[in-house]
Amino acid sequence: KTNRTFTMIKPDAVANGHIGGILDHITKAGFKIVALKYTALTPAKAGEFYAVHSERGFFADLVDFMSSGPIVAAILEKENAVADFRTVIGATDPAKAEPGTIRNLFAKSIEANAVHGSDSDENAEIEGNFFFSAFERY
Ligand code: CMP
Repeated sequence: KTNRTFTMIKPDAVANGHIGGILDHITKAGFKIVALKYTALTPAKAGEFYAVHSERGFFADLVDFMSSGPIVAAILEKENAVADFRTVIGATDPAKAEPGTIRNLFAKSIEANAVHGSDSDENAEIEGNFFFSAFERY
């Protein structure tokens, strides 16, 4: 069924000039962009977005990194969007990401891993609502 996922192009990929390359890869993979925003997370906002990871050892670094520079947030629409997008981005650790995946092509490390992709329909909805009002999406 056609549904939606949420993605961010993370600070590393924005800083390295990969916004265009990643959006091109996403659209060529069959996803329709239904919301799009160039913005930045404050440390407080990054902590809120990643609250589910607050007990993890990497949480403080993750918050620092995600608030270190601008990001691009987007809502994507496609049949089976959440699962298909996770296939398109590849494993969290770019060293383990399949050839041709976004993280294989554009990511540097497990933390600076170029993109985020929602892990469930429920989180896709929550994460999309975190960044976009009803007026900012199609
Ligand atoms: P993402 O899937 O966007 O959401 C959680 C993020 O935490 C993940 O991407 C990585 O960027 C980061 N992350 C996950 N595991 C580790 C780890 N072991 N060390 C540092 N960062 C991590």
